[in-house]
Amino acid sequence: MENLEQLKAEALNEISSAADIKQLEETRVAVLGKKGKLTELMKGLGALPTEEKIALGKQLNIVKSEVEKALEAQKNILEAKALDEKLKTETVDVTLPVRPEQQGRIHPVSKIYEEVVAIFGQMGFDVAKGPDIEDQFHNFNALNMPANHPARQMQDTFYINNNPNQPFDMDSAYVVRTHTSGMQIRTMENQRPPIRIIAPGRTYRSDYDATHTPMFHQVEGLVIDKNITMAHLKGCLYDFMKAFFELDELPVRYRPSYFPFTEPSAEMDIGCLKTKTELKIGAGTDWLEVLGCGMVHPNVLRAGGINPDEYQGFAFGMGIDRLAMLKYGIPDLRTFFESDVRWLKHYGFTPLDFSSMTGGLSDNGGLAR
Ligand code: DAH
Repeated sequence: MENLEQLKAEALNEISSAADIKQLEETRVAVLGKKGKLTELMKGLGALPTEEKIALGKQLNIVKSEVEKALEAQKNILEAKALDEKLKTETVDVTLPVRPEQQGRIHPVSKIYEEVVAIFGQMGFDVAKGPDIEDQFHNFNALNMPANHPARQMQDTFYINNNPNQPFDMDSAYVVRTHTSGMQIRTMENQRPPIRIIAPGRTYRSDYDATHTPMFHQVEGLVIDKNITMAHLKGCLYDFMKAFFELDELPVRYRPSYFPFTEPSAEMDIGCLKTKTELKIGAGTDWLEVLGCGMVHPNVLRAGGINPDEYQGFAFGMGIDRLAMLKYGIPDLRTFFESDVRWLKHYGFTPLDFSSMTGGLSDNGGLAR
């Protein structure tokens, strides 16, 4: 019995002072293993007279379960300690950049696209998307430009044969859309007023110089409701331009113009300062044309299945690439599509720099660039 008390005291002491799981396991083997001290005592029970066997057996079982409990408790402590230490060496600073060096850039066109969507999105516009390959009805006819209308010559159209087994037929040919205005019709076909959409996307014309490329980007806008007026158009586009150029004050003017799909039509200019080396938006006495707009022509409403005696609205269209050139001072449009990584590094944006009206459009407070 004395031996047993001593054995228990020693075992519990060793268990509680075990510094790691390995040491604890050694103690377990030394006490409870096949040749452990307690196991040996249990083996010796058989040789004892019955009464002693019962008394000692009971004691041995009590000690055994106490030792097992102590082993389990210490194991939990040591495992938690090991985990703590592991976590300490593996801490991650989530405020660090994703990589030592941020790789990859968002193209200025994608950036402007996001900015435009963020601004109009906050004004309550939905984004409408449509096909790049368009039929002549949506690209021209329904926009008050029937065949032989002189305005068709304003746009250098790429035509596509719509049946490869037949000779090219001008009347049934498809086009790659020359503007996003066809989305006005597609929207009216799918949605009843009130309508408030922008339609950003790719457009195509046979043209190539410093400010024209065969593929470019536009954003179309369309608002239709019962009492929409030219005043709404002016206010909406004025608010957009101020938000887009991130200016509190911006002189603007609307000049009378002509588009077949709007009546009256206008072009919007913004105030700027032009020098040989610099273009400063929002200051000076020069003007820069930024978009075309007007009140939707009754013929266009009719083509979209909307009664012009009940509804009216305004529309506008502008070049996304041109906005990018103006906002970020990029002189040549052709460089947009050359895929030169040095150019992209210089003019591009970091992928983490999201555009939003509340968090900043082009500047998220220092994290960018
Ligand atoms: N579609 C015209 C273009 O490509 C731009 C435009 C002008 C769109 C006036 C409009 C508008 O919706 O009202 O030049």
